[in-house]
Amino acid sequence: MVLFEVNHHVSTEPPYSMVNYTYEVTTMETIQIAPEVRFSRIVQGLWRLKNWNFDTIQTVNFLHRCIELGVTTFDTAEIYGDYGVEEEIGKALLWDPTLRSKIQLVTKTGINMKSPSKSYRIGHYDTRYDKIIESCKQSIAKMNCEYIDLYLIHREDPLIDHDEVARALNDLKAMGLIKAYGCSNFDPFKFEALQSACGNNLATNQIEMSPVCFEHFDSGMMDVLQKHHTPPMIWSPLAGGLLFTSNEPMYVKVRRKLEEIALRHKTSPETIVYAWLLYLPVKAIPISGSSSVERLSAAIAAFDVRLSHEEWYEIYLASGQQRLR
Ligand SMILES: NC(=O)c1ccc[n+]([C@@H]2O[C@H](COP(=O)([O-])OP(=O)(O)OC[C@H]3O[C@@H](n4cnc5c(N)ncnc54)[C@H](OP(=O)(O)O)[C@@H]3O)[C@@H](O)[C@H]2O)c1
Repeated sequence: MVLFEVNHHVSTEPPYSMVNYTYEVTTMETIQIAPEVRFSRIVQGLWRLKNWNFDTIQTVNFLHRCIELGVTTFDTAEIYGDYGVEEEIGKALLWDPTLRSKIQLVTKTGINMKSPSKSYRIGHYDTRYDKIIESCKQSIAKMNCEYIDLYLIHREDPLIDHDEVARALNDLKAMGLIKAYGCSNFDPFKFEALQSACGNNLATNQIEMSPVCFEHFDSGMMDVLQKHHTPPMIWSPLAGGLLFTSNEPMYVKVRRKLEEIALRHKTSPETIVYAWLLYLPVKAIPISGSSSVERLSAAIAAFDVRLSHEEWYEIYLASGQQRLR
């Protein structure tokens, strides 16, 4: 059992008070997302890794601390950190080769982003066969990881050829370079189209969701995912931190509600957000984007919170964006 103390600002009662929460970290749930791939139910995102200014040893230590908490799955993408995050992961895996067998790596392809290191005149999508194959080989080389556990098409591409994408992904699998594949930010129609070309083998759709972001409830994506028994990975569960930092009325309303419910459950508002996501029947896999292991442990503490059905709806309605008909 690991205990973490987290200092948390409660902003409902000025002057702001500090509350100490102690998290008893329970055993991490895991989830089978493909025949050969099992993920930790909470994933650590590395999008912001370059902003953390970690040196390689700090990255290695960070990965180990996540693993100690049971968070063994890490999310990145070719373009993260201006094409630099995969390289940082690679340096960590080179520094400590024991890491590879302890973790699962998720990365993404399909975006050609304007960058000083690239010659693209404009940012655009590219999901052609050669791009997917080359990009995957480069990601593996940069990460020194031999294979990728889950490979995702990062965004919808108006020029997508579903059969060509399916062929590329299946070829990568046959070559042993990836263990499973899926997509990210696809709407229900686009998901179904790719799913059908891929013989129902999409392992996930990685989508944005939080108490201020409901696009995928409204589009029917959650229902399509349930139909396929496909767990979504959830990005920006805390709206990139805005849930706790923004003074815009929508965020403040949600924050107050989260704080109220957190007090009831004697936990932190962050934990309540994760409990809200884990409550979904679709078996969502939230990706924490924090650089702080204490904040990651707040996410894990959500396994111990039992929200009531009504509390789930209180949060669903708090921002004022969703109405019950
Ligand atoms: N598929 C896609 O298109 C896509 C898009 C975006 C992201 N992603 C993935 O999803 C992961 C998570 O996204 P995210 O980073 O936006 O997740 P997030 O967990 O919603 O946001 C993380 C950010 O919020 C801050 N934060 C957390 N709790 C806070 C608090 N109580 N007060 C103030 N700031 C707080 C963190 O700062 P600290 O570091 O200081 O804690 C960090 O900057 C990414 O790393 C990436 O892997 C995927």
